Amino acid sequence: MGAEVVIEGLTKSFGKQAIWRDVTLNLPPGEVSVMLGPSGTGKSVFLKSMIGLLKPDKGSCTINGTDIVTCSERKLYETRKLFGVLFQDGALFGSMNLYDNVAFPLREHTKKSETEIRKIVLEKLDMTGLSGAEDKLPGEISGGMRKRAGLARALVLDPEIILCDEPDSGLDPVRTAYLSQLLIDLNAQIDATILIVTHNINLARTVPDNIGMLFRKELVMFGPREVLLTSDEPVVEQFLNGRRLGPIGMSEEKDSAQMALEQAQAEAGHHDGSTEDVRGIVPQLQPTPGLPVRQGAVRRKDRVVKILHTLPEAAREGIIASLTPEERRHYGIPEPAVTAGSALPPHRGNLPADDVANLPTERQWPAEQTGATPPLRPRRGGR
Ligand SMILES: Nc1ncnc2c1ncn2[C@@H]1O[C@H](COP(=O)(O)OP(=O)(O)OP(=O)(O)O)[C@@H](O)[C@H]1O
Ligand SMILES: [Mg+2]
Repeated sequence: MGAEVVIEGLTKSFGKQAIWRDVTLNLPPGEVSVMLGPSGTGKSVFLKSMIGLLKPDKGSCTINGTDIVTCSERKLYETRKLFGVLFQDGALFGSMNLYDNVAFPLREHTKKSETEIRKIVLEKLDMTGLSGAEDKLPGEISGGMRKRAGLARALVLDPEIILCDEPDSGLDPVRTAYLSQLLIDLNAQIDATILIVTHNINLARTVPDNIGMLFRKELVMFGPREVLLTSDEPVVEQFLNGRRLGPIGMSEEKDSAQMALEQAQAEAGHHDGSTEDVRGIVPQLQPTPGLPVRQGAVRRKDRVVKILHTLPEAAREGIIASLTPEERRHYGIPEPAVTAGSALPPHRGNLPADDVANLPTERQWPAEQTGATPPLRPRRGGR
């Protein structure tokens, strides 16, 4: 089973430039999560902070009892072996061919023979569609191929935690669909905890169990996919729909005058280029037939059913609808789904844009009540 990653109050700045503050979330073991956020919000910095390549100013990131923010160099080195990381730029060694690039972590971190290494390297290259390209140098292949080689290299140590920084960038739509399937299949086979940073809305809607979003230097939300896919939070809705209308602008934030202008233009009939509204819960991608059931998904069912009463109604209904009649009986959930009179958490939809930065400060759904990851992480702000 993949390791759980527990992140609390993580804060990072470069000199005077604050990147994000007080990020708190749990990556449940063996579940797949996606982190969204406009360009420049610090998603890559977040991944690098998780593996100790960058040092956060405050907070903790705990994996198997080791806080990588404060641990010794030796512990950090040990803990890093649990990770397979696909960096945004692939981070391949330019002077090594693909075979040697993919073999590198095995030669560096294991005592495997060259015969064993060869078997693993060829298997991972095949898995990522790179069979036959072993002898090529990174400079001789396309950007998409470099990305896939980076993924092959991230997989060779059978990692417990896989971090992928925009695995789909530079890939054509068909390769992206294969990549999505590959990530889910991989999760089914090795039960690793996976965090994917992506701008690909389709991947974000169909692949993960959980979705998070960074915006304006904070974690706006992190929770089960059903919560974000049905959220009315303007920034989440705008991002998942890839629309111009909303709080996110070309330079991350918009002022209210710009928002009002764009709204007026839209009302006057100007098409903002987005396609249809894709709000709502779509079926999650399943492992290729014949592969094992995803154990992370099985555990997740128990986890989300426990916190069901804390979720917004639309998310709750979506989760209940995804259960089979047997599962509903197993969990004692009556049909039709919604339990009358249960306490709903405050729903944070339809907030005026200026209020997005001022959501409640307290954690609304303490983990200790449910023993589970808080479904949503309200932004900190000054109300
Ligand atoms: N090593 C560094 N030193 C100083 N500033 C940095 C460093 N790395 C990143 N930054 C700054 O941190 C901010 C966030 O960068 P990051 O690369 O994490 O964004 P991102 O969300 O991954 O964006 P994109 O979606 O475009 O990849 C940027 O302003 C960037 O200039
Ligand atoms: Mg990035």
